[in-house]
Amino acid sequence: MMLLSARNLSVRLGGVDVLQDIDIAIQANEIVTILGPNGSGKSTLLRALLGIIPLSSGRVTRAPNVRIGYVPQRLAMDRSMPMTVRRFLSLPKRVSDADAAKALEKVGMSGSAQQQMTDLSGGQFQRVLLARALLCNPQILMLDEPTQGLDQPGEAAFYRLIDEVRLDSGAAVLMVSHDLHVVMAASDRVICLNRHICCEGTPRVVSNAPEYRALFGLGTQGALALYQHMHDHNHDHHHDHAHDHSDKHDHASKETHHAG
Ligand SMILES: Nc1ncnc2c1ncn2[C@@H]1O[C@H](COP(=O)(O)OP(=O)(O)O)[C@@H](O)[C@H]1O
Ligand SMILES: [Mg+2]
Repeated sequence: MMLLSARNLSVRLGGVDVLQDIDIAIQANEIVTILGPNGSGKSTLLRALLGIIPLSSGRVTRAPNVRIGYVPQRLAMDRSMPMTVRRFLSLPKRVSDADAAKALEKVGMSGSAQQQMTDLSGGQFQRVLLARALLCNPQILMLDEPTQGLDQPGEAAFYRLIDEVRLDSGAAVLMVSHDLHVVMAASDRVICLNRHICCEGTPRVVSNAPEYRALFGLGTQGALALYQHMHDHNHDHHHDHAHDHSDKHDHASKETHHAG
C-alpha cells in the first residue's frame, strides 16, 4: 500500500535549486534510508514530503489522512528552556496523561514525565523526541538523523529501539542516516541524494553504484568497507559481478522496478 509519494518534486530556497526532479514513494512497512553529503537536501526533502515547505514544482501525494510521526534534525525550541518531558509531549498538540505515559513506555522512558528536558542525556532526549513522534500513532515515521550526537552504543541502542517500535506499530520508516552499518543491515531501500537522486536500490546495489562511491568514497567510510569485506566471501565473484554491470545506475533502476 502506497502511503506517500512525490513526483518531479523540486524545491527552491533563497534562489537556489535545493532539490530537483525527485521521484519517491513510501509503501507500508518498508524502511527507506536517505543518504547524502551535508547540504544535499535530505532535511529539505523530508520537510517537502511533510508539506511544511512549498514546492517549486511537482507534487506530493499522501494516502488519505495518513499519519506521519516526525523527528526533526533540529528543534525549533531552545533546548535550555526549562520544560518537563510531560509538557514537551504536549507541544504543539495537547495529549492526555495516559497517551503520554504510553508513548514514554514504548521508548523505554517510563517514569520520566516529570524530569526536566535539560536533565536528559543525548540518548534520552532522542527517545523523548521519538515518543512525541509516536503520539499520532504514525503509519510513517520520518527520522532526520535521529542518532546525531550519540556515541556508538547509544546509536546502536537507538536503532534497536526504532526496530522494536516499527515491529510493534507496523509503521514504515523514512530515515536520514549517516550510519552505514545500520543502513546496510536494516534498510529495504536506500536513496542516495545530492540535490537529485543519484542512485537508489537495495543497500548492496547502491553501495556498489559509482554515483554512490563518488559521493562517499570508500577510504573514509570504514563501516561500508568492513561490511562488504565481512559479507562478501566470494571476492572474485564480486569483482566479476561489478564488471558485468558497468552501468550501475541502470542496474539500480531495474532493481527498483522489481521491488515495486
Ligand atoms: N531556508 C533556507 N533558505 C535558503 N537555503 C536553505 C534553506 N534551508 C536550507 N537551505 C540550503 O539548502 C541546502 C540543503 O539543505 P538541507 O536540506 O538542510 O541539507 P542536508 O539535510 O542534506 O544537510 C543547503 O545548501 C542549505 O544551505
Ligand atoms: Mg539535514
